[in-house]
Amino acid sequence: MAPRGQSPGEELPAGARAFLRLMDDRYACKLFDPSKVVPRALVDYLIECIRLSPSSFGLEHSRVIAAVEPGIRAALARSSGGQDPVATAPLVLVLLAPRAGAYAPDSDFVRARAERFPGGLPAFEADYEGYYELLRREGRLEHWARAQSYIALANAMTGAAAAGLDSCAIEGFAETEALAALDLDPTEWMACVMAAFGYRAEARRGRFRLTADEMSELR
Ligand SMILES: Cc1cc2nc3c(=O)[nH]c(=O)nc-3n(C[C@H](O)[C@H](O)[C@H](O)COP(=O)(O)O)c2cc1C
Repeated sequence: MAPRGQSPGEELPAGARAFLRLMDDRYACKLFDPSKVVPRALVDYLIECIRLSPSSFGLEHSRVIAAVEPGIRAALARSSGGQDPVATAPLVLVLLAPRAGAYAPDSDFVRARAERFPGGLPAFEADYEGYYELLRREGRLEHWARAQSYIALANAMTGAAAAGLDSCAIEGFAETEALAALDLDPTEWMACVMAAFGYRAEARRGRFRLTADEMSELR
């Protein structure tokens, strides 16, 4: 192992070194070149990064809208208070999840997902019901669903770096306004998080991180 406090180095497998380089390449891009469109193949690739992401109980809570139409992007930018990354990016991905009612063990949503698994709905429900009850009792159902979208978001942003695309995660937006921009019913949907993608029109920003010693410990 690398000495504590130093970056892991040459002893890592090549794939791990390449992955760390991508993690290091990615940064929060605040200004995109609006004229450089993200090719359709890369839009599909980012959706694939999201589709392949893991989710709790394999329920695949997240739905994604890839906003490329200028009118929709402008409305999303307004929902973010006019933030530059959203206002300038040629592509904005919005990660959505259904509201709490969808996660009841007897809901259409859970049924449709669970029927795909080995053992079908009965086996799934036997496993899921206790966890659902815990989340419901603690008022964490929607937080749980929202959290799934951040895993997908991280994969899409690192995936973007692998494809030479810049990105910026966006949490600072008015959710009801973002849902209105997408013509979605706020009693059915949550807009969990969004991210802007494109090609930078700025110098790369500096990176600030704690050292491994400051933010971790081995026990
Ligand atoms: C979940 C999440 C939400 C974020 N929301 C915003 C945002 O609304 N606006 C913004 O300009 N940057 C946003 N950022 C970018 C962060 O400020 C940035 O990732 C952080 O400062 C670290 O910089 P780096 O990504 O360049 O390493 C967000 C990042 C994350 C992970």
